[in-house]
Parts: sequence; C-alpha cells; structure tokens
Amino acid sequence: MSIELEDGELFTLDDGTELIVGSLTQRNWSRVARGRHDGQDCFVKQFIDRTGAVHAKGLAGELATQGWLVADPPPDVTVVPVRAHSTERHVLVYPFVEMRTVDQLAVDGDLPAALASRLGTVLRSVLNAVDNSGCVTVWKGLDIKNLGVGPAERNGGQPIYLFDLGPTVTVTQADAAASVVTSILLMHWSREPRRNGLLAHAETVLNLAGAISPLTTHERVQQRLQDMFDLRRHETQERSRLRAEALRIGMETAGRLYWRRARAAASALEYRA
Ligand SMILES: Nc1ncnc2c1ncn2[C@@H]1O[C@H](COP(=O)(O)OP(=O)(O)O)[C@@H](O)[C@H]1O
Ligand SMILES: [Mg+2]
Repeated sequence: MSIELEDGELFTLDDGTELIVGSLTQRNWSRVARGRHDGQDCFVKQFIDRTGAVHAKGLAGELATQGWLVADPPPDVTVVPVRAHSTERHVLVYPFVEMRTVDQLAVDGDLPAALASRLGTVLRSVLNAVDNSGCVTVWKGLDIKNLGVGPAERNGGQPIYLFDLGPTVTVTQADAAASVVTSILLMHWSREPRRNGLLAHAETVLNLAGAISPLTTHERVQQRLQDMFDLRRHETQERSRLRAEALRIGMETAGRLYWRRARAAASALEYRA
C-alpha cells in the first residue's frame, strides 16, 4: 500500500479510532483533506510535500508545539487542537474549523480596521513573551496565513484561530517580529504567476503590522524580504520540469514586481530606533 493518502480511504489511527478521508489537495508542503473522524467532520493533514518527501520532523514539531500552546494559549485566540494522529502514515487529524485565513479575508474585503488591529494585538502579545536574554520562543508556522477568523458568534465577536504551527524556534524578538511583518507584506505573494499582484492595501498592512514593526528594525525586515525571495526562487518542489520552469519565470516577472512593491511598503512602517 502506498503511504500517500487516497480519496475515500478508510484507515485506523494510532489510538484505534477510524478516519475516512475525503477528497485530497496536494499543497506545497502537505496533503490536506476534509474527513470524518469519530462521527465528526475533521481536517486531515499528511506531512508529504509536492515531491513526495515525508516531513516526519514537521509532524513531531507540530505535535510538541500544539501540546504547549493548547495548554497555554495566547490571549484572544483558539489554538486548533490535534484530535488524533497516525505515525505510520504521517497524518494529523484536527477538528474541521469554519474559518477564512487572514490573506483570504483581505482579498474578500472583509478585514475591517478593528479586526485587523485585533489580529495585530494577538501577534504582538506572542512576540512580547521575551525571556531574560531578549529572546522569544515562537513556532515556525507563525505567519499571517496561519491565522484564521471564524464567522461572528452569537455575542457578535469573531473567533481567531491559530493553526499550522510546526516546531518551536527561539530567536531574538527583533528577528521573530521581522518575520511576522514580512509575512504580512508578502501575504498575497505567490509563485503562481497569475495569482501575484494583489498587494494588500497600505492601510491593511498598517492595521496588521503597525503594532509589530516597532519591535524590529527596517533593516531586519528588508533582510527577511530578501531571504524569502531567494528561498522562493530556489524552492524546487515540482515533479514536472515544465511547471518548475513556468514558476521560475513567474517569480522573475510578476513575482519580482510584487516583491519590489512589498519592499516599498516596508519603508512606510515605523520601526524601533
Ligand atoms: N482545522 C482546519 N479546519 C478547516 N480548514 C483548515 C484547518 N486547518 C487548516 N485549514 C485550511 O487549510 C489550509 C492548509 O492548511 P495548513 O495547515 O496551513 O497547511 P500548509 O502547511 O500546507 O500551509 C489553511 O490555509 C486553511 O485554509
Ligand atoms: Mg499554512
């Protein structure tokens, strides 16, 4: 049997419960699906990237970070918990959460200033948990795209969710903040040529990043933007050479233009002296 999940597959998880997998989507870093687990809708994630490589450490890191954050979540957020897993198949099962990611809300025009600054405050409180040496323990998936917002509840508030955590990393506050600011600046940046160009409005960037940029320096953000560009250019998760080439050209044209605009947007933020 192939290790990769298949549409409609039924299999047994480590705790003996059963999972029915719905239709799968291969993403860059993972294969994801909706499913049914223990009589409930669930979200299934298999740690296998586009080239077929398994990321066992990614799964282990996610579980460890999960344990920590679910027990001690930042204020005003719900950390999506892992319900079950399969070590053999590199699968994690989460409850299915009705939400839109922050980048999606911005595209849909559903990111009013109040919600954006609430999200900024959540991120700022994570980045403010600094230890004696000026470092902060965050996680690899701390990125604006891994924050989701659910529909308004009866009290009128919209829940904020945190997911796709990955392993923890301990870095200086300035570096952690630079990486979050960069994720905001690049939230609509894609390797797909046709999807580039939707630069978030300056106002949205300001509402999301305004509370975070004072924790870092302009220099660090520019460096991080450069690193992301280099990383994306050399990301080779393509099975087909033709597709890899199309993406490379996309990165050099629309991707580069978008990225330049993001660099300009970075200059408009306020930084630590
Ligand atoms: N528990 C969940 N319920 C519903 N949708 C989810 C859930 N977790 C993630 N998603 C959606 O699936 C997408 C991919 O999941 P994510 O864990 O971020 O994987 P990746 O490592 O590929 O970024 C997310 O951007 C989000 O839109
Ligand atoms: Mg993600």
